Amino acid sequence: MAAQPAQRVRRFTESVIREMTRLADETGAVNLAQGFPDYDPPAKVLQWAQEAIAAGENQYSVTWGDPRLRQALARKIGHTWGVELDPDRDITVTCGATEGVAASLLAVLNPGDEVVLLEPFYENYVPVSHLAGAKTRFVRLTPPDYRIEEEALRAAVSPRTRALVVNTPTNPTGRVLSAGELEAVRRVCLDHDLILITDEIYEHYVYDGRRHIPPATLSGMAERTISVGGLSKTLSITGWRIGYVVAPPPFSEAVRKVHDFLTVGAPAPLQVAAARALDSLPSSYYAGLAVTFQAKRDRFVKALQEAGFRCRPPEGAYYVMAEAPMLAGLSDTEAARELIRRAGIAAVPGSSFYHTQAPDPGHPVRAGRAPVLRFAFCKRDETLDEVGERLQRLAAAKGASAAG
Ligand SMILES: Cc1ncc(COP(=O)(O)O)c(C=O)c1O
Repeated sequence: MAAQPAQRVRRFTESVIREMTRLADETGAVNLAQGFPDYDPPAKVLQWAQEAIAAGENQYSVTWGDPRLRQALARKIGHTWGVELDPDRDITVTCGATEGVAASLLAVLNPGDEVVLLEPFYENYVPVSHLAGAKTRFVRLTPPDYRIEEEALRAAVSPRTRALVVNTPTNPTGRVLSAGELEAVRRVCLDHDLILITDEIYEHYVYDGRRHIPPATLSGMAERTISVGGLSKTLSITGWRIGYVVAPPPFSEAVRKVHDFLTVGAPAPLQVAAARALDSLPSSYYAGLAVTFQAKRDRFVKALQEAGFRCRPPEGAYYVMAEAPMLAGLSDTEAARELIRRAGIAAVPGSSFYHTQAPDPGHPVRAGRAPVLRFAFCKRDETLDEVGERLQRLAAAKGASAAG
């Protein structure tokens, strides 16, 4: 029985998000499952990548990241956070936030340690925690508010807990964690000596005048926070794989060791182009993302609600969790497949953001509850309008079959 894959991968299932993307491709459905844009990055950004390749920036860069990109990141993040960051000690460029989170968890978790995750969660956190040999503990946040309660957080912490992972603005719930919730996170981390790993990839996608608060900026947290970010979403370059980790030197050193052996480095010419983008794009570019996406959110939430879905407008990021009463009786996964079949729209089953399957109030797979689907709205307005029309046809067909 030697020719077997390792045990650690046997519990991994195929990412449901990628399964839905595959089904969408096979059937020609509009893909609102995976969070990537269906429009181009800014033209200048593309030009800078081509120039970097033509200029010979094609070999390995410094493992921790091209110095020009680390310097540009130190300027941008340092300015936003109101601190001085040292690009040589505090910042590591990774292959996307995905590798940033993975390298951070692998850098701080020992086998047998516990890591606390907030449920529903971005699905990568669980398998990566398991790769590190850690046990996952979950704090379930319940709809419609998905608020963090300090008591629930404390209840998930044990003497073995080493780290807590927080994602704000949040995929899939659309929450932007409030100052009060982050204060609860801060108190729990300080009281229990926890390391906080943050995923802030949607930092610029905040709506209705809300503000993203970087947890590392909270009093006493800089020393114990590993902040992960990336440019996939901000520059619409999900395929470039440019992310980063900001952490105090002891953690940065550990993250760099993992990163070095895992990937060596992010794509060299694309790092150079990303550095130029950070140095050149005005602050109005980032503010514009929030304005543009708030309008997309409103357009899309209206289309969902007019077709009978129940949802709240997200506070940030670019996803909507919506209940589908017209598909009642189906599980979330069946409902997602049915939506592809009946309406030509791919979404993600809400249950794929949960680990605990035991049905209880507020859980998307609870028997008898309308299934919950997550839609990504980082798409052109034409695409969102096309989806709106398909949803209308679905609603009309449902109405007709109910009348008949
Ligand atoms: C919360 C969250 N973190 C990380 C990622 C992946 O980011 P990257 O493309 O930088 O690896 C995503 C992508 O959808 C995400 O939603």
